[in-house]
Amino acid sequence: MAMMRRKLVAGNWKMNGLVKDCAFPKALSEALNAEPRCDVLLCPPATLLSAMSATKPDWLKLGGQDCAAQTSGAHTGDVSAVMLADLGCTHVIVGHSERRSDHGETNETVKLKTAAALDAGLIPILCVGETLDERESGQAEDVVVRQLLASLPACDADRIVIAYEPVWAIGTGRTATPEDAQAMHAAIRSAWPGRDADVLRIVYGGSMNPANAEALLAQTDIDGGLVGGASLKPQNFARIIQSAR
Ligand code: PGA
Repeated sequence: MAMMRRKLVAGNWKMNGLVKDCAFPKALSEALNAEPRCDVLLCPPATLLSAMSATKPDWLKLGGQDCAAQTSGAHTGDVSAVMLADLGCTHVIVGHSERRSDHGETNETVKLKTAAALDAGLIPILCVGETLDERESGQAEDVVVRQLLASLPACDADRIVIAYEPVWAIGTGRTATPEDAQAMHAAIRSAWPGRDADVLRIVYGGSMNPANAEALLAQTDIDGGLVGGASLKPQNFARIIQSAR
């Protein structure tokens, strides 16, 4: 029997958002009209988490965009998973390709951060994805599976979310076709090292928008989305959430 996995639609605001944008959850509720049928997560910059946590509706979950590998101590500028959990976050993005490229995060670093998130009781959203060169040379599946296995600490499938984010699709307006994304999600599920792969949620990220979300989210192994640009406007984000059933 096919496993029913509840979908997750997550907004990744990246380095966007000021105090005035704490009104976003209210605007999103209005745009949605009814409580969503899927899990909805917002990952604003860390500076807004505290204020949003105090005012958000119950159905909206909050997450960080990154966490330190350490719990506390002499790590100027870093935010730990324990601190995010303390604010009411339930999730944290780890290993986003922008962190991997801007901050030189390796699979080893990402594995430590993922483990720190799990230790703090957060659900890590572990990002993997190939570059355009890797896709065009036919190596996409190998690269992504290798990245996944090298970034993944021992973990039950229901304690983590994997985000497949092809680097060439992030912020470019180019999206993987539903068929290509489905094939990669199926490859990730088959490569999952535990026996519980059927409960693993694998979300797609990379220029997901109100026009392409429905076709992507209809694929068997696509369990949601990690949405950047289109999560910044309540109307757009609401339409993507409504496409998830
Ligand atoms: P995008 O970003 O939707 O703007 O392409 C997705 C992401 O980087 O998580």
